[in-house]
Amino acid sequence: MPSHVLPRSRILGTGHYLPPTVRTNLDLEKMVDTSDTWITERTGIRERRIAHDGLVTSDMAANAAKNALDAAGVRAEQLDMIIVGTVTGDMPMPATAAFVQQKIGAPSCPAFDLSAACAGFVFGLSIADQFIRTGQLRHILVVGVELLSRVLDWTDRSTCVLFGDGAGAAVLGPSDARESDAKPRGVLSTAIHTDGALATSLWIPGGGSVNPTSHATVDQKLQYVHMKGQDIFKVAVKNLLATSRDALERAGMTKTDIDWVCAHQANKRIIDQVVSRVEVPAEKVLMNIDRVGNTSSASIPILLDENVRAGRVKAGDTVLMCALGAGISWGSAIVRM
Ligand code: ACO
Repeated sequence: MPSHVLPRSRILGTGHYLPPTVRTNLDLEKMVDTSDTWITERTGIRERRIAHDGLVTSDMAANAAKNALDAAGVRAEQLDMIIVGTVTGDMPMPATAAFVQQKIGAPSCPAFDLSAACAGFVFGLSIADQFIRTGQLRHILVVGVELLSRVLDWTDRSTCVLFGDGAGAAVLGPSDARESDAKPRGVLSTAIHTDGALATSLWIPGGGSVNPTSHATVDQKLQYVHMKGQDIFKVAVKNLLATSRDALERAGMTKTDIDWVCAHQANKRIIDQVVSRVEVPAEKVLMNIDRVGNTSSASIPILLDENVRAGRVKAGDTVLMCALGAGISWGSAIVRM
């Protein structure tokens, strides 16, 4: 019997970039009425990285992308598409992806931004998977990058303690997995969703057509992140649980098939509640929220790349990814590395 190559995409390499400046909870105690104890107990965050002056979103994205290309053994000239998940781009127009294309030396290819907030990387992975699976494109760069420190109100303790800056990236290409492989490598399932009913529970209300930037919008601080934290917390646990179960079902798997959970690092309590209900043991749950905070769309690819480079996540391991953020948008993926 001939053994056919499966039409499937695979993560060929990953990379990440974190700016060097560390801002600890103790630093924040000097800026707003908060405490290390409150932040650690409510979120699991101890410190986060903050981009220095002059460093912009596309710089961080390009650094992560170059690392991912090196790891994949793919040259920038071979890229057929660049997808940049971000809600904190260089500027409203053009796409940050256009600057990334220039900075990494990629050729003319479609390059666009994707606004799904914390779910941006999973959305990008799903889109890249469709193009590669259908044979239309070969090599796609998916980046998740956020420079949230420049859209935070550093006098608002309810938001400024949560987020950090950084970038993560993956290069996807065709899998050479065959039907006869017992455990074929590649993207095994993806699912993405949006429900606008909670669109105003997490938003940056200024700077668009609703509230064009003016002295008045700046006085009202509409250029900053505004959030109803408890609304997001409740829906995050519910939807991440549902989408994780859905991802397993779509891939024809059960919890015992999962080697690693690589969940969006929003809040340790959200992750703990989801994984305890999916019933995956704690030692299989990757975490870095204590060191990097919530980096939104960059969260999953940073976490994944750190663990690939540390030799923890290995070729052939099965990873469950899940994320939820503003929109609200959420999604999941199961990838055999
Ligand atoms: N330091 C000290 N006290 C604070 C702080 C702070 N940084 N922030 C809020 N408080 C106070 C509040 O004012 C309130 O005081 P009060 O009781 O006197 O009114 C008290 O702490 C409790 O506030 P809550 O908002 O009820 O705190 P909660 O336990 O819900 O935790 C948090 C807040 C951490 C934001 C939580 O709701 C959460 O994680 N929500 C999910 C939101 C999230 O992660 N968003 C990120 C983007 S979306 C995503 O990535 C999933």
